[in-house]
Amino acid sequence: NARVFSGIQPTGVPHLGNYLGALENWVALQDQYPSVLYSIVDLHSITQPQDPDKLRNNILDMAASLLACGINPEKAILFQQSQVSEHAEFCWILGCLTSMPRLRHLPQWKMKSKQKNEGSVGLYIYPVLQAADILLYKSTHVPVGEDQVQHLELAQDLARIFNLHYGELFPEARALLSSTRKVKSLRDPSSKMSKSDSQAMATISITDSPDDIAQKIRRAVTDFTSEVTFDPQARPGVSNLVTIHAAVARLSVEEAVSAAKGLDTGAYKGLVSEAVIQRLAPLREEIQRRRADPAHLEALLALGSRRARQLAAPVLDEVRHRVGFS
Ligand code: TYM
Repeated sequence: NARVFSGIQPTGVPHLGNYLGALENWVALQDQYPSVLYSIVDLHSITQPQDPDKLRNNILDMAASLLACGINPEKAILFQQSQVSEHAEFCWILGCLTSMPRLRHLPQWKMKSKQKNEGSVGLYIYPVLQAADILLYKSTHVPVGEDQVQHLELAQDLARIFNLHYGELFPEARALLSSTRKVKSLRDPSSKMSKSDSQAMATISITDSPDDIAQKIRRAVTDFTSEVTFDPQARPGVSNLVTIHAAVARLSVEEAVSAAKGLDTGAYKGLVSEAVIQRLAPLREEIQRRRADPAHLEALLALGSRRARQLAAPVLDEVRHRVGFS
C-alpha cells in the first residue's frame, strides 16, 4: 500500500533548492511507486499575505514548471490543494489533537513570525495542515528537502495520536530525502536558499537567464581560501557551490571536488555556472511553452483535483465516523 505524497507552495517558478532538493526526486519516484500525488499547496501559501491576481498566476506558473520538470499527470496525480476541501476539514480535526506548545518550535513559525513580529493563526497551524495533506491519503513516503523533516515528524506524531484515540487508521509516513538535502543561500550560506529571501542575488530561479545565473554565482559568498574543498562546517560557501555543481552535473561530491583541482574559487565559479546553465536551459523554454496555454493547465489541475478527491473523501468519511460525527 505504498503511496507517495508531497507538496510545494505556489511561489511561481521553483528555485534551484526546490528543484535539486525535491522536484528531481518527485520525477524519479513516479516510476517507482504505484500511487503518487503531488499538490500545489495554495492553502499553505496564504499564511503569508498574497495578492489574489499574483497568486492565481503563481499557481499556473508552478503547474507549468512541474510539468516542464517532468511530472507526468498520467503517472502522478497533480492537483491544487484548495480544490480538495477535505484538507481544510481534516486540518481542523487534527488541530484539536495538537497542543499549542507542540507547534511553537516548528521552523515555519519560528522564522516567519519573527520577521513580522507577529504571525497569523494560519501560520501557527501550518504544520497541522501539512500533516492533514499527508494523512488524508494514508501516504507512506514523502519526498522533501531537509527543511521539512520536523514537519514530517509532526505528521508522524499525529498519525500515532489519532490511531491511539480512534483506532488504527494511519501509517507513519517516512521522509524521502534526495541526495541534495539542502541548497544554501548564495548570499548567506548559513541559511537555506529560499524564495522569500529579500536579496535577489541569494536565489537562482530555474528560469533565470544564463547571464543572471553567471552573475549570481560569480558573486556568491565564499571565503579567503582559493583552493576548492568540501567542508560544509568550516567552508559553507564553497561547499554549497560543490553541492550545486555535483547535483546539476550528476557527479558525486568527490568527483566535483576533483574536477575543481587546480582551479581557484573564482575559476571554479565559472565551471559551476556553466553546469547550472546547461542543466536548466531546457526547462526555461518548456515552462514558457506550457505556460502559454493556461486553459490547459487549469483543466489539468481540475482533473487532478477530482482524482485526489476520490481518494480523500472515503478516508475523511472514515475519520468523521471514528470521531463520532456519524
Ligand atoms: P516549499 O514549497 O517551501 O518547498 C518545496 C520543496 O522544496 C524543498 N526545498 C529545498 N530543498 C533543498 N534546499 C532548499 N534550499 C530548499 N528549499 C525548499 C522543500 O523541502 C520541499 O520539499 N510545507 C511545504 C509544502 C507542503 C508539503 C506538504 C510537503 C505542504 N504540505 C505535505 C510535503 C508533504 C513547503 O512549504 O515546501
